[in-house]
Amino acid sequence: MSKIYASMVSIASYIPKNCINNKDFEKFIDTSDEWITKRTGIKTRYFADSEETSSDIGVKAAKVAIQRAGISIDDIDIVICATLSPDYLGMPSNACLISYRLGIENKPAFDIISACSGFIYLLSLAKSFIESNMYKNVLIVGAEKISSILDFNDRGTCVLFGDGAGAAVISATNDKSKRIIDVNISANGKYNDFLMTPICSNGGLDSVKNIKNTTGKPLLLKMKGNETFKLAVKTLANDVKEILLKNNIKSEDISYFIPHQANLRIINAVGDIINIDSNKIVLTIQKYGNTSAASIPMAIDDIYSSGKLKNGDLLLLDAFGGGLTWGSSLLYFNG
Ligand SMILES: CC(C)(COP(=O)(O)OP(=O)(O)OC[C@H]1O[C@@H](n2cnc3c(N)ncnc32)[C@H](O)[C@@H]1OP(=O)(O)O)[C@@H](O)C(=O)NCCC(=O)NCCS
Repeated sequence: MSKIYASMVSIASYIPKNCINNKDFEKFIDTSDEWITKRTGIKTRYFADSEETSSDIGVKAAKVAIQRAGISIDDIDIVICATLSPDYLGMPSNACLISYRLGIENKPAFDIISACSGFIYLLSLAKSFIESNMYKNVLIVGAEKISSILDFNDRGTCVLFGDGAGAAVISATNDKSKRIIDVNISANGKYNDFLMTPICSNGGLDSVKNIKNTTGKPLLLKMKGNETFKLAVKTLANDVKEILLKNNIKSEDISYFIPHQANLRIINAVGDIINIDSNKIVLTIQKYGNTSAASIPMAIDDIYSSGKLKNGDLLLLDAFGGGLTWGSSLLYFNG
């Protein structure tokens, strides 16, 4: 029997409709468009409506991903969702909700929590399921409504994040030239307090704000920004260098470098270290901010939808997030 490879056969995203400018934050916190632009690269981000949940957003991206894969709903063997802002704390999972809304029944569905590295972790799982011949078509979804867990009194975090979703279908192929070449994932819980979301969202900002801990403070997202920044640059640079070396691929062979969109300065620092042509770095941070597990698929879809991404292009992905978690991947796009 010829070898089975995992292949990314489609990509899609969904961007919520409410565009929030940096200047909107100037009205209620001590910040400025200039500071946010200079320190992060972010100009706008999109927030979901209050009644819209992360699974609602995920379904919208997933539908398009399945349609673009040219397969039917019945062909999907498993649904996995990465999110740090699920509809419910614990259960039901977003993957179950998304499956149900898509009309998928009696197939496995579960969520993973690996924060901003979520999409890389999803790729790793999908690749393993396919290459072990367990499943043929895996639907992976990164879906976030981070606006529902943001502390709008904390200028160090609330300006950074946005909502959105990205989805992809990963399918089995015998064609080696269309494969996901490699996925590296890792974590170190020693840094667990760098990024924290003490409580999951269910029903938007108002309901979360009303849940108080014993100190009487609302339970919302917290980040040690500067410490995270420094560790992100070092860890990502090493991780990306390692995956390139391991697979004997040079930066000039890469068609597009698609990093997690957390901070433009982190992206540029890693890009400089691996010496990649700046025209090959995909940037969406200025439009969408940090959408955590959705950021990489949203960025891939950004160049797909604008016609830049072509079948056979070699992509280098990397991400870093709460946990701490991180990862990278090399793959030939096959959409
Ligand atoms: C959050 C981040 C943008 C802050 O930038 P920074 O250069 O590290 O800034 P610092 O946290 O050192 O803060 C510098 C000053 O800016 C201030 N500041 C923070 N946010 C601000 C804002 N929105 N507007 C204005 N000033 C702000 C701080 O209060 C601090 O002021 P002080 O010197 O008077 O105390 C940056 O650290 C970052 O992007 N971190 C990593 C994010 C990340 O990778 N996350 C992982 C995946 S989610």
